[in-house]
Amino acid sequence: MPVYKYPMPLASEITSHSDYLNRRTFLTGIAGATGLAMTPFLGEGSAHAALKAGKSEFSTDAKPTSRQDITTYNNFYEFGTSKSDPAANAGTLTTRPWTIEVDGMVNNPGTLDIDDLLTKFPLEERIYRFRCVEAWSMVIPWVGIPLSALLNKFDVQGSAKYVAFETLVRPEEMPQQRSLFPPLEWPYVEGLRLDEAMHPLTIMAVGLYGDILPNQNGAPARLVVPWKYGFKSIKSVVKMTLTESEPPTSWNKAAAREYGFYSNVNPQVDHPRWSQATERKIGAGLFASRVDTLMLNGYADQVGSLYSGMDLKKFY
Ligand code: MTE
Repeated sequence: MPVYKYPMPLASEITSHSDYLNRRTFLTGIAGATGLAMTPFLGEGSAHAALKAGKSEFSTDAKPTSRQDITTYNNFYEFGTSKSDPAANAGTLTTRPWTIEVDGMVNNPGTLDIDDLLTKFPLEERIYRFRCVEAWSMVIPWVGIPLSALLNKFDVQGSAKYVAFETLVRPEEMPQQRSLFPPLEWPYVEGLRLDEAMHPLTIMAVGLYGDILPNQNGAPARLVVPWKYGFKSIKSVVKMTLTESEPPTSWNKAAAREYGFYSNVNPQVDHPRWSQATERKIGAGLFASRVDTLMLNGYADQVGSLYSGMDLKKFY
């Protein structure tokens, strides 16, 4: 049994998925008959709203972690620092309307609307291994869009070298943004080198387990970079800025000795306070043995060449 506490399930979580889908089909019928758009029914972090997505060739064959574990064992410091806080507190987040601003070194700065992301881009199911810097791991069936497809809409300038990402600041909905002693500086910020951002493995996730993204997992859109420690996968993104210099990142600002810009999963480079050689699989049970962590979280064949010639102990 996992050692953490589960919050009470929401009523919407108790509804069976098939009942939900039947209801959705019914609603779609009404929408079709009356000419109403379906979009409002997708919003607000409702627990089950089916997203159609073909399984991507980039998916691992590993068995996904349960939906229950993926949605109740989270890090989302805007909603609290314990693993059960995001599921308990993130219901307050409103995710409509929602836009992601894209600016900086692009020829066509502008915004992406979340409902366009859900309806105008091809969605793919990407079953990815996820390795947290705290030495635990999951396998998560994301639904997302390659980040390159989004960035290419804005015509990135040739001299751009990095992408800076920013999370929403909305203290009235995010309790730790009202705290006198916040665990991090807000907004939560992250960054990628442009070639990392454009790599086909990097996605903007808008769903998981075939449904829209639950709030606690970073609704309505969060980055997923599967070969890096989980904290690089910034949640509830509102802004992407193309830059020439390396952008600041939240965990590097909080503890530079412990968290570098790259934060590639690397079993040979220990965190100053613990080993990164093995990981605990969430959901495997208390007595399951730890498993070896793979170089670049198992994605070395695909992304190893991005770092050829770099000293990964120095650029951790
Ligand atoms: N994004 C924001 N805005 N705030 C956060 O606290 N936590 C990060 C990352 N993205 C975080 C965030 C960390 S430490 C991890 S491990 C992952 O989100 C957790 O993602 P999950 O809860 O969907 O598994």
